[in-house]
Amino acid sequence: MVLKCFMSSLLALVFINTSNVQTINKMGNNHLDSNAIHELVKAMTLEEKAHFVIGGGMETENTAPVVGLSYGEVKGAAGTIKGILRLKIPTMTVADGPAGVRIDAYRNDEKNKSYFATAWPVGTLLASSWDVDLVNKLGKAFGREVKEYGIDVILAPGMNLQRDPLNGRNFEYYSEDPLLTGKIAAAITKGLQSNGIAVSAKHFAANNQESNRNNVNAVVDVRTLREMYLRAFEIVVKEAKPFTIMSSYNKLNGTYTPESYDLLTTILRDEWGFGGYVMSDWYGGKDPVAQIRSGNDLVMPGTPKQAQQIVDAVKKGELDEKLLDLSVTRILTVMSQLPTMNGYAYSNKPDLKTNALIARQAAAEGMVLLKNEKKTLPLSVDKKILLLGTASYAPIIGGTGSGDVHEAYTISTFDGLKNAGYQLDNKLAQRYTKHAAEDLKKFPPPKIILGKPRMLPEITFSLSELTSMAQGMNAIVFTLGRNAGEAADRKIEDDFNLNDTELQLISSLSSISKQQNVPFIIILNVGGVVETASWRDKADAILLAWQGGQEIGNAIADIVSGKVNPSGKLPMTFPMKYEDVSSASSFPGFPLGVPSTSVYEEGIYVGYRDYNKENKKAAYEFGYGLSYTDFKFSDLKLSKQQFDTNITATVTVTNTGKIAGKSVVQLYLSAPATKLDKPSEELRAFAKTRLLKPGEQQTITFTLNARDLTSFDANQSAWVAEKGAYTVKVGSSSKNFQFQQQFSLTEDRVVEKVHNVLLPKDFENSVAESKLERSKQPESSEVYSSINDFYAGKWELTFVGTPNGDAVSHFALSRKDSKLTGEMTDPSGKTKPVPFTKIIESKDGVELFFSSQGYDVSVMLNKVDDDNLKGSLMNMFEAKAVRIKDGGTLQKKK
Ligand code: BGC
Repeated sequence: MVLKCFMSSLLALVFINTSNVQTINKMGNNHLDSNAIHELVKAMTLEEKAHFVIGGGMETENTAPVVGLSYGEVKGAAGTIKGILRLKIPTMTVADGPAGVRIDAYRNDEKNKSYFATAWPVGTLLASSWDVDLVNKLGKAFGREVKEYGIDVILAPGMNLQRDPLNGRNFEYYSEDPLLTGKIAAAITKGLQSNGIAVSAKHFAANNQESNRNNVNAVVDVRTLREMYLRAFEIVVKEAKPFTIMSSYNKLNGTYTPESYDLLTTILRDEWGFGGYVMSDWYGGKDPVAQIRSGNDLVMPGTPKQAQQIVDAVKKGELDEKLLDLSVTRILTVMSQLPTMNGYAYSNKPDLKTNALIARQAAAEGMVLLKNEKKTLPLSVDKKILLLGTASYAPIIGGTGSGDVHEAYTISTFDGLKNAGYQLDNKLAQRYTKHAAEDLKKFPPPKIILGKPRMLPEITFSLSELTSMAQGMNAIVFTLGRNAGEAADRKIEDDFNLNDTELQLISSLSSISKQQNVPFIIILNVGGVVETASWRDKADAILLAWQGGQEIGNAIADIVSGKVNPSGKLPMTFPMKYEDVSSASSFPGFPLGVPSTSVYEEGIYVGYRDYNKENKKAAYEFGYGLSYTDFKFSDLKLSKQQFDTNITATVTVTNTGKIAGKSVVQLYLSAPATKLDKPSEELRAFAKTRLLKPGEQQTITFTLNARDLTSFDANQSAWVAEKGAYTVKVGSSSKNFQFQQQFSLTEDRVVEKVHNVLLPKDFENSVAESKLERSKQPESSEVYSSINDFYAGKWELTFVGTPNGDAVSHFALSRKDSKLTGEMTDPSGKTKPVPFTKIIESKDGVELFFSSQGYDVSVMLNKVDDDNLKGSLMNMFEAKAVRIKDGGTLQKKK
């Protein structure tokens, strides 16, 4: 056991260099009080303060930045706040992430010991439970694990809005709706922090894409910002008081978020009353001095150069030392309440067994039953199942990047169904295992964890093979898998849309199931939305299992067998096709490939707000999800007809079916839209019932306050409720309202006035520019590229969008004997040297010329005009322009 005995030294700590000598043990309740912190800050030198606010750096083996890796106190944690020995300030550890504690499972110097962490279900699944109590319970258990591994700050929850289904990190996030996002984030934050550790709610704000995430400028009108992209953070700050917030990578209306005073001080602190500290995302922003000035207190993961810049700025009078003191004070104030500073002797032995049970329960509660014709499910456990699909055997339990976890084991659908008692074909399982092993041999996982993960291709079976495998089976199950992660967005082809092999397999299995008169069930093991409309008719039942953490297989079996009655509801819309998504024409910005600007043209009309307003058909609407039982909602009553300061709505839910189950009651409000254009319905409250036995009832009460009636009026810079009739609609999805009642507001009401800040320069013009720039792209964009992140001597560059898939899957550059050489992986997965025809290096960067798949390509990597990050090499080059010959499009070689 590693014992951090800082408390004993703290107890004996006598402040140096101060006349006001105190000892910490006089402070009571183990916290440094504000006087003690004040004295401590006074005792620090300028250099100490500057180093304190820049984090402990990333000391990886090759000095390259590896997300989620820093060899500090806890191996494999994402970073540290470097202590000050002289003042006996301990070093503290921060670790990822939203789906579990991300630390190394093994430590070189310790034989026979492991540090596995629970892989919880991903954020999207938790939100699909619509159950704040459950999420809070999970948060409590998760937080105990954080604490027992010696970590003070967990870099979670991830709570950006799911603006577009192609965002590679959507799995970490909760919903397309800010209320659901905010409430789930608040529930997990309260649970986690109840252990005396801190969260870092991230990524603040408008980090809704991974394409060029470090540099893209999100251009968002102020109403949309307030109502959508800031709203969830506002809820979490006000309701759950997170100790820390992580600013994002992107620029927001022209300014990097960690350098935005309006965002981090005016709004976050002055308006919302945030009392903790803000840290940057890893290497986020460009100017550490601007960060301190703006209220981004901790620059992570920190470089000595950044500390020096801060020292120099103070000396030159460019940074008021008081601001630096303020940041140090904020960090110390939070630290003083966390385990390390209070000498907590962590065990390194979290209760992984209990946590696995909670993970399983949560996973089952968040799975969404999309289709269940003729009561196909549940299936009794004596059944013989033909189980197909690589993800049935190699489950995708979470996405990649910093949201990935090192768990002790995973339960596949195969394992789970077997555990439940179903009869499955072991030989087929062996075939899938061999297939996975062979693929792994051919395509060893990259050493870096960022970028688009490789998907295991499906085995292609002949129709006769499938038919004979299905003989004598009672059901056919196919699991469709998808994975995505940090630093790359998803694609439409072969990701959002199913590929030909998958569609063919579904068609074949569907006809076999009909011939043999056995049900065909599809399980979606995905981290985000996929297309369903074109193939859903072929299945009898569809279970959206999401990425359910390490216990996914057991949780799937719990639903399939009926041990758990599904009660998950969609936290986002499943469109008929990608083009229906309101951001489809502008995501992820322009120019294509490496977008420098992403204009949120659709404004507040994200997800169901757009679908309902435009009366668009969704494949499955927001809030939708089936159960094995039926529920009736009745007796919707409002407490008054005229709104004064609040109003309550009560509704009774009755289980009218034959199986015990839980229901989700959703309350939408339609507000008068005389002055402001408004969505036709907006979610304003929701609740999950307890487990109701057949015939049992529960009455749910919702309270709406004045703010719930408002929209953001940019002209007045205020939350305004318009006078008129308000309709409360209660139902089981964003389309299925069972009751409605009206109340009125007699006068227009300005409920809250706020600062007129964070305005985009000229939004209308930006929209026009965005439309124009995107229209310049070839109709069916033939080839474009995205450059993700850059690693010590290596760049990853992905070309997507060619007619036949990736033109160049990857290429990596390295510098040998001062010459640039490259290797590229072609679409078949073979690696060969990049056939550069020319490489021009200059002081500005490097320009590469090569041919690929019959295209002439030229790529410019511009050197970032800032050598801040030397040693880490991250961001040394910025793909400002990916220049493709002949003005924007690739030319097919003659
Ligand atoms: C991610 C953060 C994460 C951090 C530390 C960044 O790349 O965006 O979400 O917490 O790395 O690993």
